Amino acid sequence: MPEKRDLVSTEGALPKHIAFIMDGNGRWAKKRLMPRTYGHREGVKSLKKIISRVSELNIPYATFYAFSTENWNRPEEEVTELMRLFDEQLDDLVNYQSENIRLRFIGDRSALDKKLSEKMGYYERETAGRTGTTACFAINYGGRDDIARCLRSLSLQLRDGFLRPEDISEGLISSLLDTGGIPDVDLLVRTGGEKRISNFLLWQLAYSELYFCDCLWPDFDESELELALESYSGRQRRFGRV
Ligand code: IPE
Ligand code: IPE
Ligand code: MG
Repeated sequence: MPEKRDLVSTEGALPKHIAFIMDGNGRWAKKRLMPRTYGHREGVKSLKKIISRVSELNIPYATFYAFSTENWNRPEEEVTELMRLFDEQLDDLVNYQSENIRLRFIGDRSALDKKLSEKMGYYERETAGRTGTTACFAINYGGRDDIARCLRSLSLQLRDGFLRPEDISEGLISSLLDTGGIPDVDLLVRTGGEKRISNFLLWQLAYSELYFCDCLWPDFDESELELALESYSGRQRRFGRV
């Protein structure tokens, strides 16, 4: 039996977990006759604003899609620049002195540059004791890859006798995904006008409310976030009930 969730009116409520597909950086730059990477740099400014605002609002979890498993198919210069940007921006993504924010990363780190993955581990450890918002960044993340890696780990445990087939439950699978310990997404926001999931958190989005806006990510700010939260707070979540 799937987990039972209560029928919830979201009136006046904030999501516990908000996720963002930060899309539209390239188009934002193109409109200004600038290279796509300029759009990514501007996108980081929006990201910082949104992390701070989400933290001020005491939303416990926020996940940001920064680089998908499919984004390796972009031109090499763009991929290199994005990786450089992650490495460089991690050092002041949040104000580590004053902001009570915990950092976490999801995605397959094995394909990332060692220096970058070490830095990710460092900030995860440094902020592990923080009690405020968990800001989670998806880098080299694919929803299918997440599930495939989870199945690989499950099958090893089955093979070695640590698990029986009847032990496999929805809860166990959730706990073994990259987002283990983080509740499912309540609200997914995608900027940039496309209405698709693009291999983001496939399992974790099963019952999420979806919000799509045309605003390009570098233009997404606190007031755009407010609109998304207002939309969420007007919804009724039924989880299959009547
Ligand atoms: C999203 O913006 C950022 C990443 C995928 C890293 P895009 O780069 O996809 O921007 P558009 O969709 O081409 O405008
Ligand atoms: C999704 O955006 C990935 C990230 C925002 C990191 P894309 O721009 O890669 O998605 P598609 O290709 O339009 O589906
Ligand atoms: Mg895009």
